[in-house]
Amino acid sequence: MGEKPRKLLVLYASQTGNALDSAERIGREAERRGCAASIVSADEFDASSLPHEEAVVFVVSTTGQGDSPDSFKAFWRFLLQRNLGKYWLQHVRYAVFGLGDSGYQKYNFVAKKLDKRLSDLGATTMVEKGLGDDQHPSGYEGTLDPWMLSLWSKLYQINPKYFPKGPDVVIPQDEVIDQPKYRILYHKREPLEPKLLAESEIIQRARGMSPGKLSKDKSKPDCFLKMTRNEVLTKAGSTKDVRHFEFQFVSSTIEYEVGDVVELLPSQNLSAVDAFIERCGLDPESFITVVPRETENSGEVLTQAPIRLKSFVELTMDVTSASPRRYFFEVMSFYATAEHEKERLQYFASTEGRDDLYNYNQKERRSVLEVLEDFPSVQVPFEWLVQLVPPLKPRAFSISSSPLAHPGQVHLTISIVSWITPYKRTRKGLCSSWLASLTPEQEISIPVWFHKGSLPAPPESLPLILVGPGTGCAPFRGFIAERAVQAQFSPVAPVMFFFGCRNEGTDFLYREFWESHAREGGMLSEEKGGGFYTAFSRDQPKKVYVQHKIREMSKTVWDLLCDGAAVYVAGSSTKMPSDVMSALEEIVSEETGGSKEDASRWLKALEKAGRYNVEAWS
Ligand code: 2AM
Repeated sequence: MGEKPRKLLVLYASQTGNALDSAERIGREAERRGCAASIVSADEFDASSLPHEEAVVFVVSTTGQGDSPDSFKAFWRFLLQRNLGKYWLQHVRYAVFGLGDSGYQKYNFVAKKLDKRLSDLGATTMVEKGLGDDQHPSGYEGTLDPWMLSLWSKLYQINPKYFPKGPDVVIPQDEVIDQPKYRILYHKREPLEPKLLAESEIIQRARGMSPGKLSKDKSKPDCFLKMTRNEVLTKAGSTKDVRHFEFQFVSSTIEYEVGDVVELLPSQNLSAVDAFIERCGLDPESFITVVPRETENSGEVLTQAPIRLKSFVELTMDVTSASPRRYFFEVMSFYATAEHEKERLQYFASTEGRDDLYNYNQKERRSVLEVLEDFPSVQVPFEWLVQLVPPLKPRAFSISSSPLAHPGQVHLTISIVSWITPYKRTRKGLCSSWLASLTPEQEISIPVWFHKGSLPAPPESLPLILVGPGTGCAPFRGFIAERAVQAQFSPVAPVMFFFGCRNEGTDFLYREFWESHAREGGMLSEEKGGGFYTAFSRDQPKKVYVQHKIREMSKTVWDLLCDGAAVYVAGSSTKMPSDVMSALEEIVSEETGGSKEDASRWLKALEKAGRYNVEAWS
């Protein structure tokens, strides 16, 4: 009796969706070669059943400072258990593909540690781990494509039953089209008049149904904020446009702490949303529910409340700013009726066309609407669009106010993003440019979510070394304002703050604020044991950065560390946190007379004790 065909398990952990995209691509490519694949998120997989799997492909991303996606955490904790032993996975073959950014120090950290742990648990690797890199000229796919090819041939070598027709026999993409994962139900009439629905209810309905939702409890906003101030902080002549925004709570108030993060759902350009709906031949006023096919027959469907199609698109589908993924082009090619468009789309979706697609699509940051307009013969069904248009994501910002110093308010310090693409098109960040365009008079309610970031609110008795160049100063404005209020009631510990920007004359954010606190008796004053230090990187021929200023203040920094100070680093630069860490390593090793390795261990211990906290964004 012949063996049954083999099945591949693809386990993924995704934070932004890239790992999910890669996992789905691996699954699709396997199936096109005749090998059945199941694609499962790490948080939906029972880790204890891993030894029963024959071949597993892991796809994991690394975010920020070497962090794993939330969906990976419980799975990883399970794998770390001591009692599993070195034979636990002895019958399992595995392959790891990581997604990361080589601009960061802990590049693909999660994939690397997973690879090591699997091998320590006795699993056998099929191919060398693949490391997808955002910095690669064609993105992570530049590594994924060749990596998959070597995986297929290895799997075939292990057991030809994985690919009954051979690893290179691929069903042509224009002959098959997968089934979309969602179905759209159209409703005759909305039982409750939509005008009577509160805005938060509409958002909750829309985002609760969205395929892009990352967790259920996030669909309902914590509250709404109304802008009360929009002020440009940078001066004419600056290369940047950094704003100070103030908001007040609209109805309910949320209690937050300094260092917390607020996520804000931006509005899309409504005429672009209308243009998308028209381009796709949809009725904006129809009422829909979006149903995952896998739950279609369960009772869940009946409990979902319908929503107007236009609101669904506006609140959940990013049609104006994010670029579609490669698979979108493949699905488009299936629906193209003009031959030349079909050919071009098939080329884009193929391995040969990958780099050209990357240049056309991601590098130019072409929006879904722009892509659809470039291929007028394509009419993609809405159920596909719901699945493939990138989800509209809330954007996270470090709060720059203190609830003690600014009761009832939330302040944000945001750099308004715009850049020129290789084809000289100006692109703007969706959220920041939308915020910059708002005025308090418009009284727009903005849906927001509050959560903890990586900067825990410090107690007033904790001495602080703060490093925040550029908009990295945002959370520390909150810290210092808060400590100034606390100082009225009790003694507070000293604060050293290192700020950096390009030019003193144009980019010195909140200059008055810092300088007033650096003056006599202020939070950053020397007589309080603290200090305020600035690095203006472009005011002299040679760059001066915050880490240079930290080195200059070695002795004071070391003394404060010995007094139990905590280090907080925040900023928008990829390399800055690791450069600051190196400067501190040098100080520790000089002051203790120990080696660089000892110094690094010393700082690691500080980190473990919660006294070294970094929040970085790009
Ligand atoms: P630059 O743009 O002149 O290189 C805020 O963005 C400040 O951080 C700017 O002065 C910027 O300098 C600086 N910066 C850029 N890279 C950095 C790094 N690796 N370490 C410290 N500061 C950096």
